[in-house]
Formats: sequence, C-alpha cells, structure tokens
Amino acid sequence: MESKEEKRIEKAKQVFESAKEKFEPKSVIRVDLPEDELPTSWYNINADLHKCGMKTPFPTGPGLAILPKIFPPSLLAQELSHDRWIKIPDELLEYYKIWRPTPLHRAKRLEEFLKTPCRIYYKQEYVSPPGSHKPNTAIAQAYFNKKDGYEGLATETGAGQWGSALSFSGALTGLKVDVFMVRVSYYQKPGRRVLMESWGARCVPSPSVPPERVYPDMATEFAKKVLEKDPDSPGSLGIAISEAIEHALKKPYPINYSLGSVLNHVLMHQTIIGLEAKKQFELIDEYPDVLFGCTGGGSNYSGFTFPFTQDKLDGKKPDLRFVAAEAESCPRYTKPKYIGYDYGDTAGMTPMIWMYTLGHDFVPPRIHAGGLRYHGNAPQLCTLVYKKVHEVVAIPQTEIFQAGQILSQTEGFLSAPETLHAWAALIREARRCKETGEKKVLALNDSGHGWLDVRGYDEFLKKKLEVA
Ligand SMILES: Cc1ncc(COP(=O)(O)O)c(C=O)c1O
Repeated sequence: MESKEEKRIEKAKQVFESAKEKFEPKSVIRVDLPEDELPTSWYNINADLHKCGMKTPFPTGPGLAILPKIFPPSLLAQELSHDRWIKIPDELLEYYKIWRPTPLHRAKRLEEFLKTPCRIYYKQEYVSPPGSHKPNTAIAQAYFNKKDGYEGLATETGAGQWGSALSFSGALTGLKVDVFMVRVSYYQKPGRRVLMESWGARCVPSPSVPPERVYPDMATEFAKKVLEKDPDSPGSLGIAISEAIEHALKKPYPINYSLGSVLNHVLMHQTIIGLEAKKQFELIDEYPDVLFGCTGGGSNYSGFTFPFTQDKLDGKKPDLRFVAAEAESCPRYTKPKYIGYDYGDTAGMTPMIWMYTLGHDFVPPRIHAGGLRYHGNAPQLCTLVYKKVHEVVAIPQTEIFQAGQILSQTEGFLSAPETLHAWAALIREARRCKETGEKKVLALNDSGHGWLDVRGYDEFLKKKLEVA
C-alpha cells in the first residue's frame, strides 16, 4: 500500500515530467521546480577542487585555536569535510521550503532592449523573506548552533542583508542574534536595522562606543581602539568581524559567532542555488555558456557556480565560462595588494586565510554596495581564479547604477547594488555578443533586491554619487 506521502511525491513527479514535455526552451519565461525537487544534499567542492591543480588551502596561524570557541562542532566538521555530498537534515528542508525552490527566470525584455542574440536567465534569490541569498546559510547555521546547544549568535553585517538573514533565522529557530553593522551602512540604510529589530535582534553601528552603542553589554575593546585613532571611522567588514568575534568570545550568554561568507561551509550551504538551477535548466533543455554573479566574500557567486564548476573540472563542459564581478573601488582580485595568507578581520583574531587580499587593514571607500567592501575573498574561489578556471571583472559604481536603470525599466525590479555588479558584467557580455553574433546562454544569480538601497539609486539619478 502506498502511503499518502508517497502518492503526493508520485503526483509531483508526474507534474514535473509533464511540465518537462510541455516546455519550449525558446519561449519559457519562468521555470519553477516542484517542492519535492528541492535538493536534499549540498555540494562540497572540496571533493573536486584538486582537479584544477590545487587543493583548498588550509587556514593557519594562532587564530586556529579560537575556532572551537566560536563555532559549533557540526559546522566545524562541515568546514573540514571532503565528502562530495552533505545531507541537508529534513527539519532544515522544512525551513528552506518557506521560500525555496526559487524561480529561474528568462530576461526576454532585457534581451530585446539590448538587441542581443543571447538568451539571458537569472535565478531569483531575492524572493526569500529578508530579500537575498543569505538565509540559505543563515538558517543552516542557526539550525546547527541550536542543535549543538547554543542560545545565540553574534555577527557582522555590511549593507545589512546578512544581518537581516541571520535575524530572520534566529526568529525562526529561537536563537538570540547580536549584529555589528558597518557604521556607514547603519546610517545609510536605516530600514535594515528596523528589519533586524523586527525579527528580535539587537543591532549596533560598528565601530561605536556608548552612548552611541545603545546596548552596553555589546561594547568592545576593539571599537574603542579604532575610534581613538579615527573618531570618524566609517567602519569596514574587517572591523565589524573583529567586534563580533570579541563579543562571542566574551560569552555574555552561550553565544557563538556566525560568518555570512568566505568559509567553506558557508559556500557549500549556498550550493542549493546552483543545484536547483541545474535542474531548472535541464527542465527546459538548456545549459548555460557563461555564468555571472557578484562577489563580496564569494558566497552567492560560488553557491550558484560550483555545481556547474564540477562539470568543468570533470571535463564534461571544457568551454564553460564563469565571471565574478567585483567593485572597482575594492579590487582584491583585479588589483590585489598580494595573493597569500592574511587575516579575515582587522584586529587579526581569525586564522590566516589564503586569498587575494587588499590587506586586512583596508578601509574601503563609501560605495553603496556595502557587501562588496570586504578586503579578501573565499579561499575556494580564490583557488579557482588563481588556476584560471573562473574569471573576474571589476565594475565602477556609475556603471552598476546604469545597469540598474536598464534592469528596472525592462524586467521591472530593483536589484541590490551588490547584485548590479553581476548585471553590469552580463550586459557587457550580451553587448559583445551582439557585435559578434554569438548566441550564448547567459545565466546570472540575482542575489538580492534593492528596496532598502534606494538612496544609491537616488544619488545616481541626481548625479551625486560620491565614488564613481
Ligand atoms: C545582495 C548581496 N549580494 C552579494 C553580497 C556579497 O556577498 P557574497 O559574495 O558572500 O555573496 C552581499 C553581501 O552583503 C549582498 O547583500
């Protein structure tokens, strides 16, 4: 006898199969996956990375000793694992189902505007409740911390997307969340703070001291030190990370630290994006020629591209291209200070990580893409760029908002300034293909919406952008 659940799955499979038959790859606008097609494992590129000629570089230095004090055992095990597939617990899949699978969309009106022969698709990660890809790892990190017995998480946030995602995940799983938000963004994007507080989190500008720091138990020695040197410090992700780690190490209650990007386990949680996208392309009998994403710490771009990278590393798709877009004013890949070991934070508390870096004391310019102002990048992605499996382009701020205007007036939505870097890179390629007549399939990860970033759009329209 078939159970009710088995019948439901069977029915979903039939719908999936008949939808597959009906799809005309050239005419489809939106590709939805049935809920039962949600991937049940993450892809861990540690198992395959060596095929590019280099293994994932291991962190080093005295900072290694703090890892067990700020991360739960289950996440540390994932960080070091070389298993290709890591199972997503059923309970966590139920959380994912709140907004996943996310749609894959064809940007036909953009294609027509650009008069490009390319077919353009984008994955809509902005449909999550906090508005970005970040909850894919936030909810996983909250889930595993709770399971391992912790009561709260401390973290940093740039533009506020990561802090929002962790606050949302804390609300769902019953964890307290303390957020150190880069000072310039705290004042540029007040809506983000309100979102975090609505989800029950505490959010303070970083760096700051009381009374600006309204929760005295969140005061840190490092913020005091930075402000003594530079009272007007706009802050940076590196400074905010140091503050969040100091707070987590003080353990005002059983609290851990949570990082929104860079680490192996974070990138792995994000592979749910690319795994879904692969199934969606299969559904319409397409396979991308070039994949695009923006990179701050490397998580959304890697999550989208790593499942496809596996095909390239295995020799199945030798011509497949991957293009990561970074901010021209924070050019760790295109103009690195050096390639090698550096700290992940400004105070030098973290282990040293192998990466392309602008130096851990880099204070980035006040661009609107707060999430792309990090000095380094994920070691797994750095390895792929170093070995020339992935490419990187740097985009100036004016060009991203030009892309934003094109996008909002063709596809209709406002993307986050971070995401617009990817769109600008894709538009460059679509225009190049218009000249050469190449009919490529271009695919992009839309990592977040820009509804709380309208100040950047406004300054662009008024020709008042501080940084070009
Ligand atoms: C919408 C959005 N996209 C991209 C990023 C960059 O981060 P990552 O490279 O880890 O995806 C951020 C970071 O804050 C973000 O908010």
